[in-house]
Amino acid sequence: MRFTAGPKYANRAAMTTKTAYVKTYGCQMNVYDSGRMRDSLTTLGYAETLSPDNADLVIFNTCHIREHAAEKVYSELGRMRKLKEARHANGREMIVAVAGCVAQAEGSEIIRRARSVDLVFGPQTYHRLPQLIAEHLQTGKAIVETEFPAEDKFEAMDQQNSALRPGRSVSAFLTVQEGCDKFCSFCVVPYTRGAEFSRPVAQIEAEARRLAERGVKEITLLGQNVNAYHGLGPDQVVTNLAGLLTRLSQIDGILRLRYTTSHPRDMDDALIEAHASNPKLMPFLHLPIQCGSDRILKAMNRGHGVQTYLDTIAKVRTAVPDMAFSGDFIVGFPSETDTDFDATLSLIETVGYASAYSFKYSPRPGTPAADHKTQVPDDVTTERLSRIQSLIHAQQTTFNRSCIGKTVAVLLEKKGRDAGQLVGRSPYLQPVHVEGPETDIGTLKNIAINDVGTNSLSGHYGVVKQ
Ligand code: SAH
Ligand code: SF4
Ligand code: F3S
Repeated sequence: MRFTAGPKYANRAAMTTKTAYVKTYGCQMNVYDSGRMRDSLTTLGYAETLSPDNADLVIFNTCHIREHAAEKVYSELGRMRKLKEARHANGREMIVAVAGCVAQAEGSEIIRRARSVDLVFGPQTYHRLPQLIAEHLQTGKAIVETEFPAEDKFEAMDQQNSALRPGRSVSAFLTVQEGCDKFCSFCVVPYTRGAEFSRPVAQIEAEARRLAERGVKEITLLGQNVNAYHGLGPDQVVTNLAGLLTRLSQIDGILRLRYTTSHPRDMDDALIEAHASNPKLMPFLHLPIQCGSDRILKAMNRGHGVQTYLDTIAKVRTAVPDMAFSGDFIVGFPSETDTDFDATLSLIETVGYASAYSFKYSPRPGTPAADHKTQVPDDVTTERLSRIQSLIHAQQTTFNRSCIGKTVAVLLEKKGRDAGQLVGRSPYLQPVHVEGPETDIGTLKNIAINDVGTNSLSGHYGVVKQ
């Protein structure tokens, strides 16, 4: 949603068009949601601005997963109060809105803590954004909307904004499943996103086609438990993720498909088989286990043990030998001992991850683990975190180095930092830097890998000489 008018008209547009600033925190689903809110704002006549300083509307799309994530928002809101007062002094309004998981979790508490906030609305109410803005402009009152409305949010947004904004990137997110019924004892998501829900197949296909028409070549399907997807098919038969991927791979123009995040309990044979048979499905699997101790997994209410996880990894590797695995780990979960932590390190050694995220456990209000008597002291957690991170880093480096001398198919996504440089992604999601013409953006090229950086690869067009 950038200005398409040339500089000649920019001032006039700035004078007559309302502007909106949207800032996103948290996971990929929030990135997707912010995109959909931007679509709505475009339909409402707002132009995007990349700074809150001159915005008529500011939306913070927030994350509640760890304390640090939630607190960042409040410091931004303090800043907004000053901006808002300055605008008021010049006779101009500024609507400040908090969306996302903090909005859902804290509701009206946000307005008590940050008086500059006009709108608070949770993830299940985004289709109501136009009404919320209109109501606030009419009444001048603060509004808190954290219900879980019965109507289909996605259907309503599709109808409001039948045309997507132009200028889509080569790779796009598409939410197919939202919410979670698993209630891991540390996690806020079941409370902030609500019950597990799968969008119908036809609705997803229509959105994927619209993305393809906009030039998108790669779609990453999103869900808190994406592999638990069970949407109604056009023939009224429930379709699993494997079935959905098969249908989406038939859309012209879509070259690659990915999905995230998967839960180990929902990794079924059909999905594993889809990886083996569908060349558009990329060999990268984000499959978090959180820790390598059965005792802690039980306390986390994950619903599976270490061996089941390792069996799944083995099954996937048999079907797709080059599969790259990624995961999430929580360090310092209540009552975690040195033995439990060693079991996590040993699991990481066994699996051999291409990449992984690790986090210090953060007690979240309202979750069962937060009330656990035995919280792990921060210095112990800090030390464990640094050990797990160096192991993961070493594995990532090993994985990246193993690509040197190989030719990999890279989907070129955008210009790089240096002149003449392009950046794309390998099938295993590694960023790849290469020299090439801008006209190749959006195409797949075979790249011979000859070097690795900390988090990326580089190479040149063509195949490796034998
Ligand atoms: N649905 C996904 C994860 C969603 S949250 C799954 O089940 O794997 C993303 C990650 O944040 C989690 O995998 C977990 O590693 C981390 N996380 C969630 N709650 C946390 C907490 N209270 N403290 C620290 N990390 C947490
Ligand atoms: Fe949170 Fe567990 Fe649900 Fe993942 S599966 S979103 S970690 S409750
Ligand atoms: Fe954060 Fe909500 Fe995503 S808590 S991780 S923004 S689902």
